[in-house]
Parts: sequence; C-alpha cells; structure tokens
Amino acid sequence: MPTNSAAELASHWWEGSVIYELIPRCFADGNGDGIGDLDGLKQRLDYLHWLGVDAVWMTPICDSPLRDGGYDITDYKSVHPDLGDLQALDTLIRHAHELGLKVLFDLVLNHTSDMHLWFQRARWAERGSPERNFYVWRDDDKSYSEAPVLFRHFEDSNWQWDPVAGQYYLHRFLRHQPDLNYDNPQVQEAMLDVLDFWIDRGIDGFRLDAIPFLFEREGTRCEGLPETHAFLRRLRSRAKERCEQLGREEVLLLAEAIQPVHEAMPYVADDELHSAFNFALTAHLFAAVAHGEVSALQTFLSEFRQLNAGCRWALPLRNHDELWLGDGHLVPEEIVDRVREGFPNAEGHWLNWGINRRLSPLLNGDPRPNKALHALLYSLPGMPCIYYGDELGMGDYPGLRDRDANRTPMAWTSERNGGFSKAPDPLLVLPPITRPGYNCQMMNVAVQKSLQGSLLNWHRHTLLSRRLLPALRHGDFQLLENSHPGVISYIRQSEEMTILVAVNLSGNPASTRLDLSAWQGQQVREVLGGCPFPVASEHWFAYLSAYDYCWWLIGDVEPESSSNSDAIADSLAVSC
Ligand code: NOJ
Repeated sequence: MPTNSAAELASHWWEGSVIYELIPRCFADGNGDGIGDLDGLKQRLDYLHWLGVDAVWMTPICDSPLRDGGYDITDYKSVHPDLGDLQALDTLIRHAHELGLKVLFDLVLNHTSDMHLWFQRARWAERGSPERNFYVWRDDDKSYSEAPVLFRHFEDSNWQWDPVAGQYYLHRFLRHQPDLNYDNPQVQEAMLDVLDFWIDRGIDGFRLDAIPFLFEREGTRCEGLPETHAFLRRLRSRAKERCEQLGREEVLLLAEAIQPVHEAMPYVADDELHSAFNFALTAHLFAAVAHGEVSALQTFLSEFRQLNAGCRWALPLRNHDELWLGDGHLVPEEIVDRVREGFPNAEGHWLNWGINRRLSPLLNGDPRPNKALHALLYSLPGMPCIYYGDELGMGDYPGLRDRDANRTPMAWTSERNGGFSKAPDPLLVLPPITRPGYNCQMMNVAVQKSLQGSLLNWHRHTLLSRRLLPALRHGDFQLLENSHPGVISYIRQSEEMTILVAVNLSGNPASTRLDLSAWQGQQVREVLGGCPFPVASEHWFAYLSAYDYCWWLIGDVEPESSSNSDAIADSLAVSC
C-alpha cells in the first residue's frame, strides 16, 4: 500500500496537477520544415498557460530512426535534429518555467532501437561478454513463453533471430526494439546515468515508458517482477539524491504500467515511484459512457479507496497509443465488451489490444460526452492528463500507418495546414485533418477561442475553476449514492471546502435523488456560475440533461466559510 504522508504529498508540485501530453513533432513547426519542433513548442507555451494546465509531457525527443514514434532511441543524451538541439531544449525549459509550467521527459528504459550503438556492439561482441549482455539473448525462441506478445498485430513472437550474433534477442515490443538486459549491472548504471543527465538539464519529471517489463523470469508473464521494483527503488533514490545535490525540488517519476490496479499500485510507494497512470480507470470510464450506466465504474472506484489518498494516480482519457483495453487482464472481459458494443465507430479500428481512434470520433463528434468525461477527470483525485487536440474535439486520420491516425498535426488557425506549418504539403510530418466535421480550417484553436461556447473555452473555464477549488486538487474522495443508474456522484472535501460532483454518463436526461443529510440545511451553490440551489437535505434532487454534469459547492453555515464560498463563486464568475 502506498503510504506517502499527507505532508510529503502536499510538498510536491504535481499534487493534483493537470498534465498536457503532446508529440513535439506534431505540435508546432517553428522552422517551417514541415515537422514540429522544440522552438515551435516554445512559441505555443503561452497557449498551454492560457489553457490552464500545469505540466507538459513531451513524447520522446531523443535521436531515433522513428520506427516507433521515437520510442526507439539511438542516443539517450541527444535531441533529435528534427526537433532542435540541447540548447533549444534549455530555452524551452526556461521559458516554460517562467510561465510556471513544468516539463516532463519520456524516458524509455526497457528497450533501445536496434540501431543504438549498444546493440550494434552487442551483436558483434563475444557471447557472454559484458557488451553482448547489454541485451537478452538465447539460442532458441522458447524462453519466457508466458510473456504475452504485446503488439500482436505487428509481431507473433517476442524473439527475433540475429544472424550476426547467431542468437535470438528478446523484444517485448517491435522487433527493432531489443530489450535491455537489466540483469547486467552496467545496463542499470547506464540508464541511471541517463536519468542524471536529464535531471541536470532541468527536466521536472519523467514519464517512465513500459516500466513493468525491465526484468524477465521463467514461468512468469515477465511483468512487475520483484527485481523490477528493486531497480525502480534504486532509480528513485538516485533521482532524489541528484536533486538534493543540485538543491532543486524532486522530479516526478510517473509509471506507464498498463496493468490492473492491484498490479500497477505497487509501483507507487514511498521509496518507489510517485505516480502511475490508471489505465483501468480509463477503460471503466469508456465502458460507463458506452453503456450509459455507472455501476461497474462505481464498484471500481469504491474498491480502490487508494484513489482517496492524494494524487497518486495519473488519469488519462486518451493518449498517443490505441485506447488499450486488453485481453481481460487489465479489466474484466465484460468491460471490454461494453466498450466494443457501445462505440460503433470503433469497428474496424482495433489495433493490438485496443481501439486506434481519438476521443472525439469515438464519441461521434458529440462534445457533450467529451465534457462529461473530462468533468470526471478534472474532479476525481489524481492528475488529469489531456491529450493534445482533445480540448478542441480534434479528429483522427484512419488509414495512416500504425498509431499515426491519432498523431496528426495540432490545429491552430484557419491558415493552410491548420497553422501547424508553412511548409508545402509533401513535407508535412503527417497530414492535417481535413475530414468534414473535423476540418482544421474550422476546428482549431483560433476559431474556438473566439467562440464563447466552444469546447476549448469550456476546457479552459473548467480548468481555471478547478484551480480555485483546492478540494478538487487534494481533497478527500467519497462516493455518494444516488438514485439514477446513469449518474455518478461523489464528494471532494478539503479543509477549505466541500464540493459535490454529479455526472450523467447516459444519453438521456436524468433526475436523481441524493442524500445530503450530512450537510443538512447548508447552502448549495453551483460552482461555475454561483447559482444557488435548494439547501442540503436528505431528499435533495438534481436534474441533469443528457451527458450533463455539475459541480456544487456545499457552503458552511459559519459566516467565515460562507464568505469564503462567496469569494470563490465571485472569482469564478469573473474568470468566465
Ligand atoms: C509505450 C508507448 O506509449 C508506445 O507508444 C510505444 O510504442 C511502446 N511503449 C514501446 O516503447
């Protein structure tokens, strides 16, 4: 069980922070070559600041042949020349810090590219030599047969024959991504050295890619083994030590472990990592909205009471990968089936173990469930993660290679290429979206900024509101029964305030009864506009239209707190 003390959690910048994930080569092109870069990103930091996020997570930026979106690295201490150089990164970090934004780096620990010097050296080196042992070699492809093939649409084995080495090497992902051998102490040291390098550069945190797979042992799924946890504890203490030496605050260590909650949880502990993505929650959220029914989501949330404790979980809806649902290991089969049945737009878009579509097309372009899902994400305990473009309801580009359908250029303006780049079309990293309904000439930041009721303005308004509501960032979490099967309701409570949340995940209007007798007689006001509701009572009713939601402030009868509530309501009204 994670046991970080409340005091320790409160001292970390990331508690309840909102993370914005982006792909640097698809976000903004600063030099007009058709490829997004760090300079372009720097120029757009103002937008992220305006939007109200706290941290920017960049997918990998190191040198790479880009056969897996940069998750195939050839030089861990470099910036890919397409994106700029180390100086450009320094400038970006400095600029982000001036705006109060944190910068997260994607650290790929499990594997390298097969073009990495370490791998080239390994295949030519003597069997049994430390160089060869940088990777995992066998004379046949029979070992670790219980480890599932993750990228099943691309690979049918975790082993690849290498004619130079005369042996097979292990790759849990694509065949050009050989797994590093963490049983070799030199590998561990090399990767800790990489960590030091980026901490020294001023990075504020790390998203740790594919973390469960570092070690392998026969007779297991080769996921989350005790040896892996031991190494991660080493990594944590190394990071802490380095930060102390530099006199800077600790860096966030965030695990990508697509595992059921009980398997993902152990990564997050006092002496291990600070946070992990809760992918099981993501699957449950999609299943609930697909089904218009929240009982499984409710059970999930109530079973995992650790959601109460600070901000241990990072909460993604979509990211640069397929919406991973798994084979019944991550969440029960019936949850996967609900998503399969509830989203007709997913048909024909299954890739590996998930759905290869962006949020908006999955939701049929309907902004209402987009808001409902984000209203949950922004009010559940943890760190909400937004995937670039989802704040606009951006579309995808089916038919592009691998997961590129979800990685098309950010739409900024109605200029050509959606303002992403001035380069001629053939040079663009990926085609901008031109499909009806999602055309970047219409659906972009500039247009949505100018429309008061746009999805973008809703996200900004809601994020700014959240900033003013400490209970949503670090308050306790308590599910609250209500009488409607499509509505989920809960309380977030901190010393400062009590917030009631109700979200209708069904496509029909809902009227529901909530028992607010614990706050009997206290005033209840809708948070965003300050509109008064009937005082709290045992038979308190709420009406929510299809996919509607509401955050209410339950005011205290004491004059001091009630004026506090007034102040919050006032500042929110102004910021609208
Ligand atoms: C997880 C990343 O999110 C994904 O994009 C990548 O393909 C695999 N790890 C392999 O690095």
